[in-house]
Amino acid sequence: MPRFITLLSGLALGLGLAGIAPGRASGQWLEVRVGDRPILDTAMVEAGRAVYEERCWFCHGEDGDGDGPVAPYLWPRPRDFLMASFKLRTTASGELPLDEDLYRTITRGIPGTSMPEWGSTLTEEERWQVIAYIKSFAADLFEDEVFDPYQQIVERGDPPRGGAEGILESGRRVFEEADCWECHGAAARGEGEKGPELTDDSDFPIWPTNLTRGWKFRGGNSVEDVYMRITTGLDGTPMPSYSETLSEEERWQVAQYVASLDPEGGGRNTEVVISALRVDGELPTELDDPAWEGAPEVSIPLTGQATFAPRWQVPAVTDISVQVLYNADEVALRLAWDDRLADTLAADSARAAKEGWSADDTYPVLYRDGFRARGFFPDAVEVMIPLRHGVSRVLPHMVYGSSGQPVDLWRWEADLQYDPDHPQPVTELRAGGTQHPPEAHALESQLATGAGDWQDGRWTVIIRRPLSTDHGAREVQLESGQIVPIAFHVWDGGNGETGLRMALSSWYFVYLREPIPLTSYFVVLLSVVIACVFQLGLVVWMRSRARRGLLLEYGIGSSKMSE
Ligand code: HEC
Ligand code: HEC
Repeated sequence: MPRFITLLSGLALGLGLAGIAPGRASGQWLEVRVGDRPILDTAMVEAGRAVYEERCWFCHGEDGDGDGPVAPYLWPRPRDFLMASFKLRTTASGELPLDEDLYRTITRGIPGTSMPEWGSTLTEEERWQVIAYIKSFAADLFEDEVFDPYQQIVERGDPPRGGAEGILESGRRVFEEADCWECHGAAARGEGEKGPELTDDSDFPIWPTNLTRGWKFRGGNSVEDVYMRITTGLDGTPMPSYSETLSEEERWQVAQYVASLDPEGGGRNTEVVISALRVDGELPTELDDPAWEGAPEVSIPLTGQATFAPRWQVPAVTDISVQVLYNADEVALRLAWDDRLADTLAADSARAAKEGWSADDTYPVLYRDGFRARGFFPDAVEVMIPLRHGVSRVLPHMVYGSSGQPVDLWRWEADLQYDPDHPQPVTELRAGGTQHPPEAHALESQLATGAGDWQDGRWTVIIRRPLSTDHGAREVQLESGQIVPIAFHVWDGGNGETGLRMALSSWYFVYLREPIPLTSYFVVLLSVVIACVFQLGLVVWMRSRARRGLLLEYGIGSSKMSE
């Protein structure tokens, strides 16, 4: 029975966390404080077994083989402890980790994966105990006296000081010359050409990290942590060690460069209200029109749609950036998100089904065989607005509203964008719950237009629509001055995403802010002047009264005094 309960909580934990919130693991890996390591004797191993069988087995497997009951739904997969191959180490490539390394990882968790942090749930002693136990899965390796990991600890000096600009420039050169871009891409978004073929040592697909999302680095994105990863490599993955091929100085330089790629460190503008900028004249049609530069940009986190079947725990897209412009007649949204590959082919559900993918799988097993082959589904993005926004204070259900609270959708699809026979790539749809797929509006109500383009691992899409239509309450109507609820859905076709298998945001708000008219500046100025004149008058009057009062008190003067 307890087994069953831990399995259930494991499922919830594993699948819930695979949604992967930024900053879940706190702090950097090397910064984790490690106390004195106790002796990991057989008593510790036994105590560790109890911890493992309560907390770890449903992901990592009863026998430590990384194949617990939850594992088939997780990506990346839990570590197979029999292989004794660890990503996060301070030891040279191919070496076993120090106990202290395991302690850091277990305490802090692994960002961007379902591996939780245990620093707040397990005592220090329990963490050492469970380390003793997971080492026992590969006891022959860990106890081999010839293969002594303690000989091969990476010596780490201090990061170079001096002209930061110069170091970053040198780092960028190392990134080029050491061919990091072949995997990580020239724009470092993980879009390199080798990406689609890469697998880890257990033959599961693995993507090169998007280096512009520092909060998702497995081992932290401080300069020191990145230096450590580049020096040691991530064992069990295609990410090599550069301890032999790059000098220490070059490794520091490229580490500084990589750490600089996410300057905001996840601290992007994540306000809930997106301020729309009102412009005079035409709205831009070009994706890179300078008019966009003035529009405030909000970065919106996305999670997997995990409320309705088929649930989706591992969306590829983790955030979307949004800007809004509008004029007297129209609104335009510019949406941008990272996606390593442009999937522009129309949906091929038949082929997907043939390869073992049912659109209805509640928790689809990931990567059964090579489902990452492209061409199943196109990339897409969608804006969701309550049909009757402003009427009720209660927002519609986050996933496509309900029959009582329908939502309108403006959907851009990559296959339509590249289909020469299709007039334009945006469709307006209506949804009212998840029982039925969203339905396209009638042709005369298809007013939204748009365009999209993929460059260096990033989509940029514009969606435009008239503020108001001729169909009154049957369609979304917008007005200057309004605050309108809005949400976003993104599909990465190459990640098997289609329908409810999507990344989604919670509700945000667009504020169609009215420009402050010049007359209101004048009114403010005028009221300041009036206030000043009034106060001045008041002071003069009170003074003269006070003076008169004083004089009268002393019996001098009369009511004529003020003359
Ligand atoms: C919800 C699932 C889940 C649970 C529960 C879980 N892990 Fe993990 N763990 C993972 C995943 C997934 C990875 C692999 C992450 C990766 O490859 O980047 C992992 C990796 C690891 C690693 C490898 C680190 C490295 O450097 O490669 C260790 C050690 C580890 N887990 C220990 C534990 C311990 C100890 C527990 C229980 C106290 C535990 N895990 C519980 C999912 C889980
Ligand atoms: C052969 C392909 C390949 C090459 C070449 C490569 N990487 Fe990687 N790199 C990867 C993969 C795959 C991962 C992801 C590992 C994972 O998911 O755990 C990765 C992960 C990383 C990480 C993230 C570590 C973390 O904590 O999550 C950094 C930083 C990094 N690479 C930097 C570099 C730099 C700098 C270079 C060049 C000096 C480079 N890589 C060259 C494939 C490569």
